Amino acid sequence: AAGAAAIAGLGGCGAPERAGAALTSGLPLPKPFTVPLPRPAPARPGADGVYELVQRPADMEIIPGFRTEIWGYGGTFPGPLFDVRTGSPVRVRMVNRLPVPTSTHLHGGATPADSDGYPTHLVVPAPLTGTFHAAHGGQAAHTSSVWRLTPERFVHEYPLDQPAAMLWYHDHRMDFTAPQVYRGLAGMFLVRDGVEDALPLPRGERELPLLICDRAFEEDGSFRYPSRDPSLLGEPGVTGTHHQGVEGDVILVNGAPWPEAEVDAARYRLRILNAANARRLDLRLDPPPPSGAAFTQLGSDLGLLARPQPLDRVELASAERADVIVDFGTYPVGTEVVLRNALGTGAAGDVMRFRVARRAADDSAVPAILADVPPLTAAQAVTSRRFDFRRSGPGAHGKQWMINGQPFTPSTPLASPRLGTTELWTLTSDFHHPVHVHLGRFQVLGRNGRAPRAIDAGWKDTVDVRPYEVVQVLVRFEGYRGRYLLHCHNLEHEDMAMMADLDVV
Ligand code: C2O
Ligand code: CU
Repeated sequence: AAGAAAIAGLGGCGAPERAGAALTSGLPLPKPFTVPLPRPAPARPGADGVYELVQRPADMEIIPGFRTEIWGYGGTFPGPLFDVRTGSPVRVRMVNRLPVPTSTHLHGGATPADSDGYPTHLVVPAPLTGTFHAAHGGQAAHTSSVWRLTPERFVHEYPLDQPAAMLWYHDHRMDFTAPQVYRGLAGMFLVRDGVEDALPLPRGERELPLLICDRAFEEDGSFRYPSRDPSLLGEPGVTGTHHQGVEGDVILVNGAPWPEAEVDAARYRLRILNAANARRLDLRLDPPPPSGAAFTQLGSDLGLLARPQPLDRVELASAERADVIVDFGTYPVGTEVVLRNALGTGAAGDVMRFRVARRAADDSAVPAILADVPPLTAAQAVTSRRFDFRRSGPGAHGKQWMINGQPFTPSTPLASPRLGTTELWTLTSDFHHPVHVHLGRFQVLGRNGRAPRAIDAGWKDTVDVRPYEVVQVLVRFEGYRGRYLLHCHNLEHEDMAMMADLDVV
């Protein structure tokens, strides 16, 4: 019965509208800054050189005194931390022991289409395999050119022919990405190269990968989410999704609520990922440092900037990353420095706390030149396209989040970018839409005809298009042909069809 219900849920995209306020947890919230900041367990290859991640349910104590069932890569949330090198291909065997199908995407990866985690390329857990194949054989729309169903396991090939950057991996199942990521299917993926190795940046304990997201909890400690995969509930369809995207009232860093990290009075390199389904971050340090800017930005989504830049705030929409230095050496020992989100209200305005515990030697430095990032110019663009991210309709389900008025149709390209060329894309919107493209990388050319924000610098794969903004980006696709995606990374919007197929030719 669970299998049949899951199939019924595979096609639907529409959902009734609800208010977009943050969900309120039904249990007493923990006191902030009492849980230590966890470091995700390192991912390690097996004897055959392949990294194997078993996707499975597991119990975690996220809120002290409560048990939360998560769905995790390797049974952990966040998933294991990859630390791998440019040009050294990685193979990851995903084994699905969850009660639902999954598709795994390496976000920011320059990956052959076959391994990229297309939403209809599903790894189906063994108990559901028979049911799924029967269903897809019997429905004309579910042709093999759209659906690829692999029983139980799939090996992803990641060539990693790309500069050092912090990527991340997460679920990408058609229509159910948001609830499946919310349950824990996300992890960080660091790629290193010789350019980065040569820089005297903080390393080891002084490099902190920080996966920031928000969740709400039921009275019993389980995750609270307004829309559940019907295969779990035995319901015939999607039960309703927050239209603006789902926000919870508990902020988690590396899976811990408002954690605290004890730090030396020294420079730290923070690799920050906004892994929230919908919540936007505008990060500040409280108190700000006695001298200098709060942050020195080294890199953005897809690697190092040409030069470091001082920032007082780090604005990140869903899926964006920032690579920044914070110099705790400028604070007196004993200072408690809160990382705050200026966009969060109440407790959700706090993220985590650093306690400057001791004086320490620091031989790190921030060099004036970081990497070679040739700026793209509009003159290089051979094609111009316009993508409008907007709620439009009326459709069968009323108004729907769409791109250029089209709901996502697998394997039906909205555009066919040419490999190795530069395109000028104009992105427009009616709301906050973090626009993400697979395979392609871009530089932000301008916002509303003016210069981009400082935080837009460098090679990006996601850009926050804000209400009624016109954002221009210069995008390049390199390396592989095939089916990729363009979508809003507000995961509820993505599930409600704000996604497009790109055929890279
Ligand atoms: Cu972070 Cu299409 O995904
Ligand atoms: Cu959106």
